[in-house]
Parts: sequence; C-alpha cells; structure tokens
Amino acid sequence: MTRLITLSRAAHLSGMTRGALQKKIREGELPSFDGMVSTEDLCRAFPGCEVEREIDESGAFERIVRVRDEAFGRRVRERMLPSQEVLAQRLFAQGQEIAELRRHLSRYHQLVDTLRGDIGEMCKHQPDGALDALAARLDHELAVILGSQSEQDTFAMMDDMLRAIAARVTLRPSGREFLVEGNDTLLEAALKAGVSPGYGCGNGNCGLCKARVVAGEVRRVRNSDYMLSESERQQGYTLMCAHTAISDVTLEALEARGAADIPEQEIVARVRAATPLADDVMLLHLQTPRSNRLRFLAGQGVTLGAAGVSHDFSGEYPIASCPCDDRNLLFHIRRDESDAFAQRLFAGAIGSGDDVGVRGPWGDFVIGQDTERPLLFIAAANGFAPVKSLIEHAMAAETCESIALAWTAARGGHYLDNQCRAWAAALDDFRYLPLEAGDGAAAAAPLLAALASSGIEMRACEVFVAGPASFVDAMRAACDGIKMCIQAI
Ligand code: FES
Repeated sequence: MTRLITLSRAAHLSGMTRGALQKKIREGELPSFDGMVSTEDLCRAFPGCEVEREIDESGAFERIVRVRDEAFGRRVRERMLPSQEVLAQRLFAQGQEIAELRRHLSRYHQLVDTLRGDIGEMCKHQPDGALDALAARLDHELAVILGSQSEQDTFAMMDDMLRAIAARVTLRPSGREFLVEGNDTLLEAALKAGVSPGYGCGNGNCGLCKARVVAGEVRRVRNSDYMLSESERQQGYTLMCAHTAISDVTLEALEARGAADIPEQEIVARVRAATPLADDVMLLHLQTPRSNRLRFLAGQGVTLGAAGVSHDFSGEYPIASCPCDDRNLLFHIRRDESDAFAQRLFAGAIGSGDDVGVRGPWGDFVIGQDTERPLLFIAAANGFAPVKSLIEHAMAAETCESIALAWTAARGGHYLDNQCRAWAAALDDFRYLPLEAGDGAAAAAPLLAALASSGIEMRACEVFVAGPASFVDAMRAACDGIKMCIQAI
C-alpha cells in the first residue's frame, strides 16, 4: 500500500542521506508532497530489489550506522531497541492504526467488488463499448496495483518496523526532524541528529532543556531532580534530557541558530587519555562530569588550562569531536615550543586522571543551520581537528548534498587517514583528497590545482578552511572572491 513518509524515514529506508534525497527532489526524480515522499515513488527512485539486496546482503545501512558511531567516538551504540514498555506502547498504537486501516480497506474492497459486479451485469444486458472499456480498465488497474504490491509492502513493512524502534520528533518553530532510537532521550537523539536544542546539565538538574509537547506522547526514562511547576506540567512541558518519545512527537523548543546562542561555560574535565597520533600531534581525550557537560557547536574551540583560577599555561584549541557526545571532548594538539599547555602535555606533565579547566566555547567556524549546498572542507595539518567535528556534524544532520575533504600535510602528517578513507568508502557522497604538500603557504597552490583537476567547483560549495595562519592566509589570497569560512589554528 502506498504511504507518505517523512524524508528522515525515507532516508533510513533507502540508506541515502536526507541531502541526497533533497537533491533528487530538486532534480524532479523524486516527487514530494509537503515535505513527504510516497513509498511508491521511493521504490521507483531506488528500485526495491537493489535497496533490499544492499540492505540485506552488503549491510550498507548498518555499515553507515557503524561508521557514524565510530566517527562520533562512541564505542558501541548502547542498545538499538527501546525498553519493553516503550516498545509495547508503540506496538499497541500501531496495532490500533492497522485495525483502523483494515476496517477502511474492507469497506473499499466491498465497494470495488460491488461496482465490478454491477458493471459486469450492465455489460451483459446492454453491450456498450464505453462500459466494456471501463470494466477492462478497472481489471487492468487492479492487476497493476496487486502486481506492484510486494515491492511497496517491503517498504511499508520496513517503515512499520522503523516506527516501532524509532519515533519521529518534529521541532517547532524550526520544523527540523529527527528520530529517537533505542533508549535515547529526546536530547540525546537531537544531538545525534545534529540538532542543537537549548540545554544545560544534560542530567535532569537545571531545567534548561524544557520543551512543550504539542502532540504525541513522551515517557520518562531517566531520573531528574528538577521539578516542573504545576502550570508548566499542565501546559505540557517536559525535560528533553529525561524523556523519550513513545509516539511521533511535535515539540516546541528553542534551538541554537548560531554561535551567539551558545553561552560561555566553565568546566573542570578529567583527562581520560593522552595518546600520540603522530610524532608531533597528541590526541587529548577529556571527559566532563556527567552533570556538567559542554554545550558547543561543531567547529568551535575552547581554552584549556590548569583547573581552578590559574590560567598561566592555558591555550586555545578547536574541539575535534562531535557535539553529539558532549561529555567526551577530543583535541588534536600539536607540539609547539611557544605553547605552554602543549609543552606540558608532550612532556607528560598532563596525563590520565588529571583535571583540566575548560572555558568556552568560542569561534564561529560553524555550519549554517539550513545549509544544503555541497560542503568542501580544506584542512592543513591539525586544522583537520575542527574539520573532523564539522564533518561528523554534517553526517549526523544529513542535510547537505555531498561532502568533500581535501587535507594537506607533510608526509606522515595525515594522522587519521584511515578514518577519512573509511568515510569515503562507506558514503557515496563523500570524497577524500589527501595531499602531501605540507601545511604552509606553499601548500595552497597544489591544493587548489588538485581540487580543480578533481572537478570540485569551489564556487558551488560552502567552503571551510582550517590550518596554520600562513596556509589560511595564502588560501584567502588565492581564492579572492570565493566566500569561505576560515579558522587559523
Ligand atoms: S539539561 Fe538540565 S535538566 Fe535537562
């Protein structure tokens, strides 16, 4: 049976990103109705057997999910299935919907049968060319519908399964959508989908994640100490960090639309690990307290220093991880004699278990909320750090058409080359161009030549450039007239 489904569900069913589907819609290959697509058109755009085979045999969908999980620094997704109670409530709601559909279908079925019988009788008693043609057309259309049923049923069944394990949330007033999977709270699901709602502690204490439930049902899945007032409860307010969605839900919630909407925070985080990524680059993994996470946008940075009042060896560093994992903050810190914090890190004076002060976030090296154009990221050396955060965010948000990454470094300087290659292998719309042209001003010309010869049209893209000051200055000079978002590190 043909069914209208949202773009986010269509993306999950077809294994494509929402950006790729939006491109097909813009190019007229996939009709849409008020932001929805029909399962029938989806079948046509992605011939059913191919999609099924890909999903069943190659595990493409699971592979992309896995790559995303790895990309986000998550070890293993906790559990795909929601709790039994949530699952039971969703199945009950679906059962009611199916029973209602059955009643409707049976009435239509009877009506069609009666009409067919009547037309047959009329043809027998009053032979008439027009009636014969009508009867033939009715038989033909029914045969077509029954013949195409199995392909469409596959999508409908997959959609039913998806609805049981994942509820859809629509935010107002932005209209952004995301799915809530497993035991995720509304807040966790929003962050994983690249959405940035207002929140504070992430742990049920501050009340900053309050949102009003306009439609649908939510259920508490985490403890919270914050008490909503009686009037807030009556108006339907809920805490996004403590509740999950039982059914498809519409929420009224504020979202950060840019860096200016994110407040400055001060947190003491603990070093989980300091691991060399290359001779001169260290991976620093900090973990914030459970009740005091860092709210930031992908691409932003923070000031790291001694925990407490003293900031005599502080430094500013871009965050290399995704805002979807706001407790685990990753940094790619380069050896630098003029950087006291980096010196202490490389000397081993900062290590596992130590406290580090985190202040921020700062910077507006961020992706605009409604960006749909192809994204082009250009990184030199550890300018890859903020770019990695942006790429992971873009993959989660699934709104852009395609992603290209050009990374220039000295030989041996592509310290996460495997991760970039894994992205390129797993995602059809991801291109990776590694270059061993160094990371200074001289790298700009060969990088631009490589982009030109690979057919990437910079003017058609949202361009992000991060790297040492000499490199980004050279890029700015060489690309006069092209709008770029630039971050010197
Ligand atoms: S984020 Fe603090 S209560 Fe939800």
